[in-house]
Amino acid sequence: MKVTLKVWRQAGPRDAKAGFRRYAVDVTPDMSFLEAFDVLNEHIVRRHEEYPEGPIAFDHDCREGICGMCSMVIDGRPHGPWAATTTCQLHMRAFKDGDEITVEPWRARAFPVIKDLVVDRSSFDRIQQAGGFISVGTGSAPDANAIPIGKAAADQAFDYAACIGCGACVAACPNASAMLFVGAKVAHLALLPQGQVERRQRVLGMVVVMDAEGFGGCTSHGECEAACPKEIDLDAISILNGELIAATLRNE
Ligand code: SF4
Ligand code: FES
Repeated sequence: MKVTLKVWRQAGPRDAKAGFRRYAVDVTPDMSFLEAFDVLNEHIVRRHEEYPEGPIAFDHDCREGICGMCSMVIDGRPHGPWAATTTCQLHMRAFKDGDEITVEPWRARAFPVIKDLVVDRSSFDRIQQAGGFISVGTGSAPDANAIPIGKAAADQAFDYAACIGCGACVAACPNASAMLFVGAKVAHLALLPQGQVERRQRVLGMVVVMDAEGFGGCTSHGECEAACPKEIDLDAISILNGELIAATLRNE
């Protein structure tokens, strides 16, 4: 099948000539979306006189839905048309022969474009550094049953731990809010005994950095939940708000 990829091209962070460019590419239905970009980039490199702008820069690493790197808005949806699926796990059978597919980077002030489809998501790293960890003694791993954890809490914490930090929630939100991401991190650790020591400082620190990085507030649109490839639910934001109120009151 032949599709047209209408791709955002931007030479650098401040490229006044940035814009869309169309590329026709031959693909197979079982090709992944990123493989279609590999094929296109090989074509661009081979025909470099025709394409002086060079190959398209895009982020990827694991290509297994684990690392959260493959940040592309595809036909207006972060990670494309399949629910609960990262861009790297999207396949070309999601499209039809002759389709034109629009591909853009995440659009958010806190995720500035570096080049083409690559954005700088180090703002998420700084939020994590402000509290998304637990303090433990180093040494050999403790026995697995040394700290008993109820099944319900373990299951819920595991669901929130599934967040891969991809940023699709921010890209989908009209306010570019990072509340679902921060909610997943805070909820994951608040549910576990290991997360209790820094519980109060964690939520206060992460929310301060989240605001300072320029992410917007949550106004309950729910677009984040719909775009999340790991199906993090909006309850994460309720837990975040509860943790924030409790920590603020206890700090006064
Ligand atoms: S909450 Fe979902 S969409 Fe947001 S960063 Fe985590 S995995 Fe990605
Ligand atoms: S490349 Fe790792 S999640 Fe897509």
